Amino acid sequence: MTKLSVRHLLGIKNVSENDIQTILETATQFKEVINRPIKKVPSLRDITIANIFFENSTRTRLSFELAEKRLSADTISFSSSGSSVKKGETLLDTVNNILAMKVDMIVMRHSSPGAPHFLSQRIAANIVNAGDGTHEHPTQGLLDAFSMRENLGGDLTGKKIAIIGDITHSRVALSNIFCLQKLGAEIMVCGPSTLIPKYIRNLGVKVSHDVKSALQWCDVANVLRIQLERQQLKYFPSLREYSLYYGITRKMLDDLNRKIVLMHPGPINRGVELASDAADSGHSIILEQVQNGVAVRMAVLYLLAQQN
Ligand code: CP
Repeated sequence: MTKLSVRHLLGIKNVSENDIQTILETATQFKEVINRPIKKVPSLRDITIANIFFENSTRTRLSFELAEKRLSADTISFSSSGSSVKKGETLLDTVNNILAMKVDMIVMRHSSPGAPHFLSQRIAANIVNAGDGTHEHPTQGLLDAFSMRENLGGDLTGKKIAIIGDITHSRVALSNIFCLQKLGAEIMVCGPSTLIPKYIRNLGVKVSHDVKSALQWCDVANVLRIQLERQQLKYFPSLREYSLYYGITRKMLDDLNRKIVLMHPGPINRGVELASDAADSGHSIILEQVQNGVAVRMAVLYLLAQQN
């Protein structure tokens, strides 16, 4: 199997197209493994992985834990709530104490953009960024690309992907943009101007403020959550008004008269960015994304472990 050119997965920005292809091809093989009656392989039998989460998570955390178990790794889990972080212990001291227990790899979610990059310059273990604030969420970008490829015939060259919603506060948006552009897709971001950062045009994406025309344009609509917990200011008058202008309903998808793929990284604010009848419709591959997350994370962990 081909090796990656990186020791850590900190973001997609600095990962080559070659590495992305290697991860997605390896994930295809692991997806086949986890659909067998015996879902476990001994690939990481001698590896110990610490999942350290300084922010809430359901999908990412459980998906990494399951990926590690499927690869036969030993795992420990850490949540900042209930830990000695609450007594003032620093990030670096926390991680060095975990590594002193002979841990080989760190999977980390942190609210500060750049926290995994900071650690990567100070510790020897491989690091996987499981989301750093509003910056990147590389495994989400990879599993989204994997799911799009499965649903669009295997090649994203020239495919049109609309990323709709709160782009300003989303780490999924940047990882999607970097990943999908490297795979040859065209990207449009869509939302109210207050939720689209000015720098985004420099990344070579189209910008729209009209959700109906974004849906008309795209092959895939990847809808993002309104991240109220990160919003210090009022970016729109009310959730009701946001939903009125930017919420996606089943009727809007049916009115397109062609099938587009509907995605969302979760958790969904039902009735805000997505109506339940759209989220649960035949257009939606939201639970496929979650399923694919395990195979993609198995691929990332397996390939990074080969770097040591
Ligand atoms: N998509 C995602 O990162 O979900 P969680 O916050 O539940 O991990």
